[in-house]
Order: sequence, then C-alpha cells, then structure tokens
Amino acid sequence: MGAGIAQVMALAGHSVICADIDQAALDKGRETIITGRFGLGAAVARGLRSQEEADAALARVSFALGSAALGDRDLVIEAVPERLELKIEVFKELDRICSAGAILASNSSGLPITALAAATSRPQLVLGWHWASPAPVMRLAEIVRTAWTAEETIVVVEDPEDALPLGRDLETPVPEQSGQPRGGLHWSPPLSNICC
Ligand SMILES: NC(=O)c1ccc[n+]([C@@H]2O[C@H](COP(=O)([O-])OP(=O)(O)OC[C@H]3O[C@@H](n4cnc5c(N)ncnc54)[C@H](O)[C@@H]3O)[C@@H](O)[C@H]2O)c1
Repeated sequence: MGAGIAQVMALAGHSVICADIDQAALDKGRETIITGRFGLGAAVARGLRSQEEADAALARVSFALGSAALGDRDLVIEAVPERLELKIEVFKELDRICSAGAILASNSSGLPITALAAATSRPQLVLGWHWASPAPVMRLAEIVRTAWTAEETIVVVEDPEDALPLGRDLETPVPEQSGQPRGGLHWSPPLSNICC
C-alpha cells in the first residue's frame, strides 16, 4: 500500500521517502512503482502520464531502511501491518524522530486513531488518512479526525489547491467513531516532503 501512496504523492510533486524495516519490501515497492500494474510505466503506456512526468516522479522518491531518514519530513503516512500494538510503537518512534511540527497520519483501515494520537506528544497533529487501494487508481481517501486533531492539521492535508491536480474528490472530514466510517475524503497535501 505504501508504494502506491508514495507514487501518488510523487506525481503530485512531493519529495517522498519510503521507509521500511525490510530491504526486500523496499525493493518490491520500487518495482511496484516502476513496473507494477498501476505503476508509472503503466500510466505512461496508457497515455495517462508522459515519460517525463513519470521520470520526474520517480526521481522524487527515495527508499530508506529503518526510520532514521524520517527526521526532516513534514508529513509521515504510516502504512505498517494492521496491528494496533505495532502501530502504537511506530507512532511512539515517529514522535521521537520527527520534528515537532510534523503531521503523523495512519493509513489504518479500522484501528482507533485516538490510540495512535495518545502515543504521541502531538495529538493535535495526528489523523487517519485511509487511502482506497490501489492508491494510484482510486480517487477516494478518507480523513479521520480525533477529538484532538487540530483544524489546522485538517486544513494542511486537505488543501484544495493541491488536491485538484490529483483529480481526487474532496469531502468533509469525518469524526472518528467506533470503526472508521467511509465517506470523508481527501487527496494530497501541500507539503514539500512526505514519507510512506
Ligand atoms: N492493502 C490494502 O488494500 C489496504 C487498503 C487500505 C488500507 N490499508 C492499510 O494499510 C496498512 C498496510 O497494509 P498493507 O496491505 O500495505 O500491508 P503489508 O503487510 O503489505 O505492508 C506493510 C509493510 O510494513 C513494513 N513494516 C512492518 N513493520 C514496520 C516498522 N516497524 N517500520 C516500518 N515498516 C514496517 C513491512 O515490512 C511491510 O513491507 C494497514 O494498516 C492496512 O489496513 C491497506
């Protein structure tokens, strides 16, 4: 999932670091972006993107083993396996590593974003950002706000000026409920660097 999100973000003009604890997963993610069914090569072959656009997008993506490279990111989109205890540990680590103003988002399909926010010292900067799969194809993603998520955080992630080039639909963010309701949506943020 992370590779698809990275591809969308890179096509939108953002610098992206894909971080994983598994080198094979990083290699596979790179291949997915380049030659995957919904990757950049396929987009060029279908006439959806020019070769120049694809090349430029790929040049914006780098790959890192471990989390050390994430310290300068404006936004991190977590996409580790759907296990709450793992995501809580990842959010604790991200909170320690990332700059104080960095937004931390989770691609969780249904885990409580509030629990992830509570694991950090910046709950106002934490939100759910649930991308529909495959990210390069689907036009919808869901923003989930907790009781702590700041309006400014939502505004940054939903900036329509940046959203429109992606052709994704904007809807009002949904509040977190038991399970995450589908419907509130999003697209991509006006941030200079991203991590998936
Ligand atoms: N696959 C989908 O269709 C889909 C759709 C929407 C949302 N999601 C959500 O996205 C998240 C990821 O799902 P997926 O299917 O891509 O999982 P996946 O198992 O395919 O990929 C998860 C990756 O996370 C890596 N990882 C594990 N622990 C890590 C850590 N501590 N730090 C960094 N990387 C770590 C793994 O090596 C693996 O490469 C889940 O929360 C899932 O619910 C998935």
